[in-house]
Amino acid sequence: MSAFAGKRVLLCVTGGIAAYKSAALTSALVQRGAIVDVAMTKAAEEFVGPLTFAALTGRQVYSSLWDAPESIPHIRLVREAQVALVAPATADIIAKLAQGVADDLVTSALLAARIPVLIAPAMNDAMYNDQATQANLCTLRSRGYEFVEPESGFLAERETGIGRLASEDAILQALETILARTQSLKGKRVLITGGPTREAFDPVRFVSNPSTGATGIALAREAALRGATVTLVLGPTHLAPPAGVEVVDVVSAQDMYDAAVGPAQTADLIIATAAVSDWRPETTSPQKAKKGEGDLDVHMVRTPDVLAAIGREKHTGIVVGFAAETENHETNAREKMARKHLDAIAVNDVAGGRGFGAQTNALTVLWGTAGRRDLGAASKEVLAARLLDCIINDVTSD
Ligand code: CTP
Repeated sequence: MSAFAGKRVLLCVTGGIAAYKSAALTSALVQRGAIVDVAMTKAAEEFVGPLTFAALTGRQVYSSLWDAPESIPHIRLVREAQVALVAPATADIIAKLAQGVADDLVTSALLAARIPVLIAPAMNDAMYNDQATQANLCTLRSRGYEFVEPESGFLAERETGIGRLASEDAILQALETILARTQSLKGKRVLITGGPTREAFDPVRFVSNPSTGATGIALAREAALRGATVTLVLGPTHLAPPAGVEVVDVVSAQDMYDAAVGPAQTADLIIATAAVSDWRPETTSPQKAKKGEGDLDVHMVRTPDVLAAIGREKHTGIVVGFAAETENHETNAREKMARKHLDAIAVNDVAGGRGFGAQTNALTVLWGTAGRRDLGAASKEVLAARLLDCIINDVTSD
């Protein structure tokens, strides 16, 4: 049976060129059995007529707070729906949501929403990359709004850049993940490590890697949404940490070790996604090192292995590691799983810089002597949900 059968979806359409794509999206949802209510802004109506959506859904389309005064439509719509989708989401609606503006039906409904809200931004690349929009996106992320990221490609201005509405498949997949979510981790304590570490050479120079922490953040958000009490030990990143999660900011591998190993003892589930630097400069100069003539030799020493220490210590929780590999992926990962005493390991291919900093990834989970599940390629948010499903349904039941 379709994951959408009988599910109530509120689709908020705002005023961008991509509004025409929302009609196809509506049809796809209806064909999968969803009951779709459409709310439109006045600007959206300039692009697509409400009649189109009314015909596709077989239901009334809402665009004014005063359409049906007897039933307070903005509250009723978000009470009846299981998920709200804003597609396309313009820079304007993103700014209004970040500010709490409620000056029309769509903004009022979204402000009143206690259901998951999935936002699919679509706009010109300069508008998307503008600091104000990026700051608003950060604010919304930290408040628990969920996103399906725009794609790069041909924009309405006949230019190429980021800002195209995500594909129909990506939006449907993200919605499906939200609808499939349960309180499967209620009462559980989950500890996650994420992000890079920085190993200082002097106050302004360090050794690090391109990790952004996106995987750890997505897992922390997903675990919290499933009812867990989540601690995220997070290395330096520009990404906003998720709402409803205790975040412990760390810088170096030693900081991460100090913050994670103790709390891991009492966690039910530990997932180590951090890209921890394996070496650090042996000495750190308190002042900026002067360059002088010629080359510099820096002696690098090993950092502590956070996950190996967690696996070694006596614990009752499930311990899951990540393996970033460029060759012999599964053989190397199984060796890592045994060496670090893990219950499972998620393998990703980082050849050619894949995985790091990207919005999508592909994962395979290995456990026990022969357990294996391919989670496929998807956004890091969708993969986070699939990984938790796999840990709950496959790893812990074997
Ligand atoms: N890890 C850790 N502390 C370290 C190094 C790695 O906690 N100092 C964790 C990572 O978070 C990941 C797992 O160990 O969950 C494997 O990390 P990876 O970088 O793939 O492997 P390494 O142990 O560093 O081995 P190698 O670099 O030789 O592949």
